[in-house]
Formats: sequence, structure tokens, C-alpha cells
Amino acid sequence: MQEKTGAGAVASALTLEEKASLLCGQGAWKTVGVERLGVPSIVLTDGPHGVRLQDPNAGGSAFDINASLPATCFPTAAALGSSWDVDLLARIGEALGAESRAAGVSVLLGPGVNIKRSPLCGRNFEYLSEDPLLGGHLGAALVRGVQSTGVGTSVKHFAANNQETERMRISAEVDERTLREIYLAAFEHIVTTAKPRTVMAAYNKINGVHAAQNPWLLTQVLRDQWGFDGLVVSDWGAVLDPVSAVAAGLDLEMPSTNGFSAQRLVQAVGDGRLDEAAIDRAVVRLLELIEWTAAGREPAAAPDLDVHHALARQAAAESAVLLKNDDAILPLDPDADAAVAVIGEFARTPRYQGAGSSRVTPTRLDNALDALRDAAGEKLRLSFSPGFLLSGDEEPQLVSEAVAAAEAADVAVLFLGLPEGVESEGHDRDDIDLPAVQVRLLEAVARVNRNVVVVLANGGVVEVAGWHRHARAVLEGWLGGQAGGSAIADLLFGRVNPSGRLAETIPLRLADNPSYLNFPGGEGTVTYGERVYVGYRYYDTVDAPVAYPFGHGLSYTSFAYSDLDIRVDGSGDDVVVRVRFTLTNSGPVAGKEVAQVYVGDTASSVDRPARELKAFTKVALAAGESAQVELALYARDFSYFSTAHDGWVLEPGEFVIHVGASSRDLRLSAPVTVDAPEPVAPLTDESTVAQWLADPAGGPALRASLDRIPGSGLGDPAILRMVESLPLTRLAALSGGHVDIDDIRRQLAQTSAQGL
Ligand code: GLC
Repeated sequence: MQEKTGAGAVASALTLEEKASLLCGQGAWKTVGVERLGVPSIVLTDGPHGVRLQDPNAGGSAFDINASLPATCFPTAAALGSSWDVDLLARIGEALGAESRAAGVSVLLGPGVNIKRSPLCGRNFEYLSEDPLLGGHLGAALVRGVQSTGVGTSVKHFAANNQETERMRISAEVDERTLREIYLAAFEHIVTTAKPRTVMAAYNKINGVHAAQNPWLLTQVLRDQWGFDGLVVSDWGAVLDPVSAVAAGLDLEMPSTNGFSAQRLVQAVGDGRLDEAAIDRAVVRLLELIEWTAAGREPAAAPDLDVHHALARQAAAESAVLLKNDDAILPLDPDADAAVAVIGEFARTPRYQGAGSSRVTPTRLDNALDALRDAAGEKLRLSFSPGFLLSGDEEPQLVSEAVAAAEAADVAVLFLGLPEGVESEGHDRDDIDLPAVQVRLLEAVARVNRNVVVVLANGGVVEVAGWHRHARAVLEGWLGGQAGGSAIADLLFGRVNPSGRLAETIPLRLADNPSYLNFPGGEGTVTYGERVYVGYRYYDTVDAPVAYPFGHGLSYTSFAYSDLDIRVDGSGDDVVVRVRFTLTNSGPVAGKEVAQVYVGDTASSVDRPARELKAFTKVALAAGESAQVELALYARDFSYFSTAHDGWVLEPGEFVIHVGASSRDLRLSAPVTVDAPEPVAPLTDESTVAQWLADPAGGPALRASLDRIPGSGLGDPAILRMVESLPLTRLAALSGGHVDIDDIRRQLAQTSAQGL
């Protein structure tokens, strides 16, 4: 491989044993150093929404995820994904990078960009979206932000790690088109546009082959097709066979296996099962990573944690989604002469992050109750009732206290959500329901007070259809990070106008989700039977009712879309479709709108989702202000992945462009025609006679060969028409061998050589 730095020279000075040891971690969070050659050991640690660095003085296990040094806990990915704000994510990445540097971390393990295939996935709190374009663009922004500080990232978990159930051995059975269009697409965008320094290979298998030792995934796709030149690190404990892993393209196994893997690598080279060049290749990549991250190990100004906390607060506010707001009950007036009953333990004890390897020890923790009290004017009377036990156990006394408080108040604000442990790395959920004790509390409160506002704290979506009629407003706060409590107060009192949009559909019922019958699989496999129809791609194609659609989110103002103008420049692979429109803040206060562009293919030779998100932008507008928006679409935005063509195919013809405020709230639409050469599938022996005859080179070759078969009549167009749907192999078999495929191939080679 072309050496980019002195890494090759250093590698050549290493013994095989030293090289093999470099490919296997040191302890839980470090790489092996080679002091005699000045190769330092570097630290890799989680991520993704805060630096989780093991406290060296905590003693105990290196995997004690609760013993980490304080760091800013930003909103988790489920929240950040709902911000739809690329610039914000880049700024958060910069802050994460600064804190990583200060902690001596060279690679921050994140972002997690796995697609939210099922709402049940225990780690959906840690992932960005059900849509790969949104996840890819936001993930790329995080990568750029972190890496701008000289700290590397590790986009994860590559790939198709969409459940926690049996995550270390389950095989995700996914057709290639679905992989390419859905489960690899976010990784592809991030790798090709943001160049993460590492990619983390997932625990699971893909079509029977472990991701961490999958040559198709780690070399053919990631490196040969996408041009990735960084390092592939395993998820922790994901390597089954280090020899197969290195041969497949894995470079670093984590954590350490105390020399066992290194020994197996040396042995495999010794007995010819592994080419030492594969080890050298991985060593060079590790040395290049160490070299690339050297700048991040230089002393730098200590990060301002107050500034980071403020950024976390802004991010949480930008990520919250106002699902409903009947009669504009929100925002509340903090200076009103009124009584507000704050109900729910989550107001006092915030649920602000997920469980597992991403768990951060926050530098500070805001709760909504204190934040509301701090922001309330003198005349606003706030009461607090916990309302329920986080354990989920019934506590009638708490309910009656809460109901009494609600009855005495003008407005009741209920803080509900998923208790710790319901959703976590390592296990999936069994349902998407709010705890029954919380729903019963809401019903009891709604019986005595019609002005009910619900604030949610959850990472994976929760079912709302059974209870949201009891609330006039529902604000989805997700897991808002250490400043989430203050952000909620900012939103409730209107100091910030909600601008989050759903990055995942909220279904009416779990059973409506397209993966429902194929989750979490069993007996070692999970079949992605819904194919590309994930999330809104399914709901919108079958026009299924949902509780709240992908892209949905209300504001305290309103937005109007007008003057759609679509310009097409070029054709085929060079086509550029410019989508222009006017966006106006038609309401009373400043706000931010997320304008979304969806593309539908009105006529295609394969089934395709009704529409797919292909561009978006978040625009801040003062009341009454208008802006001209232009978003560009390219060939890939109109293409689908074809296994028959073994690549992306842009079929010429008519498409429809939708511009809107969600996948269902389509404000402007227009047809557009894209010109492109008719795609021609590569001819194979399984191609039909018709496909062969239609091919510019294959047709003459086939005819030349058939014409030489005496008495076959196959030169007769009428006869040929009768057999045109036969694969060539069947024609050869039926002809008793007179149709000679080898001869046809020779003819094709001659025809092609003649440039026909
Ligand atoms: C965990 C997670 C991965 C994390 C790694 C190190 O099992 O799957 O996201 O980065 O191991 O903690």
C-alpha cells in the first residue's frame, strides 16, 4: 500500500512479535506502545455524547462504566438527531474533541449511526435516525467537529447492528440493495465526506459472516469502493478469530486478549495461514493513526466547561420536538398570576442519558423543577408532586397528592418517560409503552384539570396514541443530557422556540412497525424482511396512519412555503437538480424551520419507497421574515442500488420532488424529468435471451452463434420471440447443447473487441 508517512519505515523496524502485539489492544482502552521506536500507546474511549474516560484512581474493573471522570454529558444521539442541525452537531463535536484532548483521549468512540430499524432496539437512544441521509449528514458533522481538534473518531457499529438481542452472534440477513440503500448509506456518506480516522466493526454477523472478519464489508466495500484509508477497530470483544479478522481488513482488536491473539497471529504467519503483509498493512494503519492523533496529544487550553454546559443546554432545546400544542397552551407565561402543578419524578430526578458504554459522569446536572422555579416570575405559583415511583410500583399516596395539586392549579405539567434500565446497551425493549403507573397518573390528573402538558424523557420512541388525548401539549425531550432540565424550562416558558423534528416515526402501535414480524429474529438469524421499507419509507408507501410522522415537529410560530422552482442541469451521472423555494415565518415569533426535500420515483423498474428524504436545511427566521432556499440534488439522490447491475442505477424518467415540514406535511410538489442513458445490466449466463438480444454487443454475438446452428430455426424472429424469456443457460440445455454458451462468449469477445 502506498506509504503516506514514516509509518512504513517504523513498521519495517518492528519484529513480527512486536507487530502482532500492536494489532491487539493494551488493557481495556489503550493501544500497545513500542518505546524503543518512540511509538506511544494511545487511548480510545467512549463516546459518543460525552467523554467516558475510566477514572484511573477508581480501582475496580476497567469496565466499571460508572467510574468515569466528569465530562459534559451532551444530549444523546436520539435527541441530537431530532435537531436536524448540522452546524450544531459540528459544534458539539468540537466540544467533545476539546474535552477528549484535555483527558488525553486520542480516539473518541462514536458517533453511533446505526439505523433505527425497530423502536425496540435498546440502543436507539444512542443512534441518530431511521433515515440514512439524516444520520449520515449529522454523523459527518460530529466527525468533522471532533476531528477538527486533532482527536480521531470511530463511526460505529459497522454494520447492521440494529438490535441488542444476541448482538454478538446474531446474523443480520439483509439483501444487498437494502444494505446499500439503508444500513451502509450513513457510513458511506460519513466515510467519503468526513473521513473518520477509524471505523468500528460491529459484533454481529452480516449474512452469516462476522462483521469484524468480513472481507466484503471491511475491504471490498469500505476500502476498495469507498476509499477508506483509516483504521478498522473491532467493537470490544467482537473478534472471534484474529487471523481471519486481520486477513479480512480489521486492523486493531480491542480490548487486549493479554497476548493470546498476538500469539495466534504470529503462529498463523509461521504456518502460512496468514500473509505477513496483512499484518504490515494493519500496523501501518495503526502507526498512521498514532501519527495523525499526535497533534491532539499536544497541550491545549483547558475546555471551558461552562461554555460546554451552555452548548448542551442549547442542543437539548434545539432537539426537543413539540408533538402537539392544542390551542397554543404552550408557551406558559412565567410572569402570569397563576398556579402550575409540576408533576412527575423526572422533573426532580432527570432521565438524561442512556445505560451502557456511553454513560457519562456529568460535570453538573440540571433538573427541570429547579430550572422552572428559577425562571418563574413572582406571581407564578409552582407546586411539585413526584406522582410516581421510578420503580414503576404503584404508590396511591403519590397519585392522590398529584391529583390534588393538579386540581388546585391552572395548568398541570407532567414529566413522564422511560425509567433507567428500560432501554440500554445489551438488551432490547419488550414494548414501547410508557409505564402503566405513569399513564394512570396522567388519566387521573386529566380528570381534574383539562390543561395538561406532558414532557417526555426517553431515548427510544414511546407509544403515545393511548394517552396523548389527555394532554393539550406534548413535548418530546428525549434524553437531553446534563442541561436538559434547563432546556425544558426554556421551552416551556418560551425563552426558546421548539425547533426539533422527529428523526424517527412514532407509530400508532408497535405492531405497525415494518420490522415487527422480524424482530429480534431467532435461532441465530434476524431477517430484514421489510427490505428498504424502514420507518417512513414503509408507513408512507402503504399510507399507514402513524401517531406522528418522520420530520414532524411544531413551533410557537408557523411557516409558509411558496414559489417552488426546479431547475435541471446536465443528465445522467452529472445531473444537478436545483430545488428552490421561499420559506416564510408567517407567525408571531422568531423560530427555526426544518425544510425537507423528498424524492419519489413515479415509474421505475423496481419497487421503491413512495418518497425518500434527499435534502434538508434548518432555517432561522424572524417573525414575518422570508428566505430563498436552494437545495441541490444529484444523481445518487434519484438512484437505487441494483444487484443485477451490481451498482447504483439512475433510470431516466419522471420523478416527483416534494418540499415539506415532514414526510406527510408536503407543502410543495412538482414533477421533474431526469435524462440518463438506459441502464444496461451486465450480461450473464442467467440473462435472458431478450436481454442478450437487446444488448448492443450481446445481440450480434448471440445471433451470430445461433445462425450457425443448422435447422434450429432460432434465426427466425418468431421462434426467438417464443424463447426470449429463457435464461441463456436454459436455452442451451433445451437445445441439447447446440446453443454453445462458450461460443456465444467468444462471439461477444470478438464483437466487443470490434467495438460494436
Ligand atoms: C461496547 C459498545 C461500543 C463501545 C465499546 C467500548 O460494547 O458496543 O459502542 O464503543 O464496547 O466501550
